[in-house]
Amino acid sequence: MTGSRIKRIFGNLPDDIGAILLYNGSEPHQDVNFFYVTDLTKGLFENSAAVIYPDGTGTIITSKLEEESAGKSPLNLEIFSSKKEFRECVKKALDVDGKIGINFEDMPHLSYRKFKYMVRGRKFVDVSESLEKTRMIKDRTEIERMKKAGKIAAEALKAMTESLREGMAEYEAAAILIYEMMKRGATGPAFETISSFGENSAEPHYTSGERRLKKGDFALFDFGARYDRYNSDITRTFVAGKADKKQREIYGIVKEAQMAGIDAIRDGVAGPEVDAAAREIIEKAGYGDRFIHSLGHGLGLKVHDGGGLSPRMKMELKENMVLTVEPGIYIPGYGGVRIEDDVLVKKNRAEVLTEFPKELIEL
Ligand code: GLY
Ligand code: MN
Ligand code: MN
Repeated sequence: MTGSRIKRIFGNLPDDIGAILLYNGSEPHQDVNFFYVTDLTKGLFENSAAVIYPDGTGTIITSKLEEESAGKSPLNLEIFSSKKEFRECVKKALDVDGKIGINFEDMPHLSYRKFKYMVRGRKFVDVSESLEKTRMIKDRTEIERMKKAGKIAAEALKAMTESLREGMAEYEAAAILIYEMMKRGATGPAFETISSFGENSAEPHYTSGERRLKKGDFALFDFGARYDRYNSDITRTFVAGKADKKQREIYGIVKEAQMAGIDAIRDGVAGPEVDAAAREIIEKAGYGDRFIHSLGHGLGLKVHDGGGLSPRMKMELKENMVLTVEPGIYIPGYGGVRIEDDVLVKKNRAEVLTEFPKELIEL
């Protein structure tokens, strides 16, 4: 499986690249592509490298600390116990004809300069677009992991709603979500959990704070699970107590827009067309200027991964891509509603990976 991923990466590149060097530095300078090509689901692999070749093979260069974990990858293994040995291993692995591909997007400048010095005279080229393009089409193993990540998040949300009470702080609800996800096998949250009550729900990327839940509040939760390094990303908005007329109206518009977006998804459709299917509903209802972001984004080893659904991104959807569909209406000082699901693109439809009811829930 790693062989076919590696071959697909080179298939999206010119023939004059003899090897790609992927470097996973220390937190926060990590490169998900290191994990994509090695398929290592456990371990930190700080300051480790993977060198991959057009024939689908590759070598992991890592320290003794990770030797046991690294053995689970089908790639070759070189273990170093000093910086000097690391440099020698890298030089040996890169001793092939052709240019050297580098992921300019995630390699820190300092590391780039060190590698450049290690293999003086060799030409480095950016392969970040090819890496991203390859990762956008998920294989069977990736889809299984993403389904599990989606299921964990949806189940955790259900469990959290059962303990959500008036007077609870946003951060407490966030903590419950994370606990419920890890209890179900997630290695952690996919990103900092958004738990926002009342007027705070009008800030799309609010995280969580001390605001306590009151009757009549919107309660918006946007969060995800990380499972075997793959992420889910789900949002639901509830109302504490009885929803009023305006809350029902806004919620209904967002729900209709989200369902129209999902309905528009199939292999071959253009991203802007999907965005428009949802956006038109919000515009016609008079809230067009309150839908202040794109309809969705690619999802995978990164939370905001390759591609997306927006009026400007001219991408064509392909079978086995995974995207989010997340329209919202945000009214400053009042509150906001967003509904988000993750979907797998199939030939004629979208398969939802985050199954959770969509009708307005009054808590
Ligand atoms: N959690 C950020 C987003 O939904 O994209
Ligand atoms: Mn989200
Ligand atoms: Mn999202």
